[in-house]
Amino acid sequence: MRNGEREVPQVLIRRSVIEKRVKAVARQITRDYKGQRIHLIGVLKGACFFLADLAREIDLETSLDFISVASYGKRRDSSGQVRLLKDLDSSIAGLNVILVEDILDTGRTLHYLLRILRQRKPKSLRVAALLDKPSRRVTPVKGDYIGFSIPNEFVVGYGLDYAERYRNLKDVCVLTSSSRSPQ
Ligand code: IMP
Ligand code: MG
Repeated sequence: MRNGEREVPQVLIRRSVIEKRVKAVARQITRDYKGQRIHLIGVLKGACFFLADLAREIDLETSLDFISVASYGKRRDSSGQVRLLKDLDSSIAGLNVILVEDILDTGRTLHYLLRILRQRKPKSLRVAALLDKPSRRVTPVKGDYIGFSIPNEFVVGYGLDYAERYRNLKDVCVLTSSSRSPQ
């Protein structure tokens, strides 16, 4: 975004479409873990709305925890480094863990999280991500439950931010720029 340009969010995935897809992913998880307990781990902050909506559509005994990592900061491009900001509150040993992410981009964040979570000996470990940008992958990781595969566009809304803004948009939007007209 250049100086003098204004960011304009354009809807990419409408809220009604997100809602239907989240319900479908929740039904799949409910079927896959029938009769078992699951433990959802939300990656803060981007996954918070997805996790809240997903968890309420899952018909299983479910517990929640959160973890926070830094990968992007205020820039759009990954620094390539992942740092743990907030660890889990409780042990995941012996639990069916589903890590809930907002978006899989280069895959570096997920690669890091899977490595540290595997060391803690969960019974099983899967990944649910609202969005996937497979064309951006640097580290070969895959999600088990994906909401939508999207092209290589920078998106915001439904939890996703640009410099901490736009998380509260109800739709997933692409940020485009328009020239500010002279006053
Ligand atoms: P990765 O480590 O490159 O896969 O990046 C994952 C993290 O980068 C996500 O959890 C997001 O916080 C952020 N990210 C990646 N792509 C986007 C995007 O298009 N919009 C907003 N955040 C993004
Ligand atoms: Mg972010």
